[in-house]
Amino acid sequence: MDIYVDSANLNEICQAKELGLADGVTTNPSLIAKENGKFEEILKGICHEVSGPVHAEVLSLDAEGIVKEGKELAKIADNIVIKIPMIHDGLKAVRKLDAEGIKTNVTLIFSAGQAILAAKAGATYVCPFLGRLDDIGHDGLELLSTIRTIFINNPDLRCQIIAASTRTPAHIVELSSMGVDILTVPSKLLTQLEKHPLTDSGIEQFCKDAEKFKNL
Ligand code: E4P
Repeated sequence: MDIYVDSANLNEICQAKELGLADGVTTNPSLIAKENGKFEEILKGICHEVSGPVHAEVLSLDAEGIVKEGKELAKIADNIVIKIPMIHDGLKAVRKLDAEGIKTNVTLIFSAGQAILAAKAGATYVCPFLGRLDDIGHDGLELLSTIRTIFINNPDLRCQIIAASTRTPAHIVELSSMGVDILTVPSKLLTQLEKHPLTDSGIEQFCKDAEKFKNL
């Protein structure tokens, strides 16, 4: 199971890397917009730190524009994956980029049907957004499980799932139990996963008790 950092912030990415939690990185235009600097420079910096896949999203919405932009982004580094929104022209562009050996990630997946179309078009990855589905009263984990079953039962669909828009420790535990290929996790959630109040109170008690013998 690979864990990616869902961030464009170099400090967050480096901190996760120190713990072996940066098998790759996913970015999107909203995450890049939070950082200072030019789009390409930010991506270059991330690719310099992380040897695994770094996902960079195109802004064009027409097939020709997506292909052109995808090819430009692919020049930034060998580990760049082109993130393309799940639209009709996006699928056309996926086919073209796949034919040229450029890896793609079809993002903003909210149904199993969309995942099937993306995989058939030749996407290397599909990116279902759990948290955003949960936000509107649907079950993100159920969608993940359905897509996983479809891909397992149809091995000709050689496409990996990146579970995205993860929001809670429970998401990470459930997805890991399910055996999802890749989880992309915001750094705030990585910190939440580390913490447990019983760990904190346990340390406090051990430190207090250790005072009794430390100076003997
Ligand atoms: C993943 O590739 C997406 O960028 C990300 O997980 C979206 O998460 P959000 O729904 O919390 O914005």
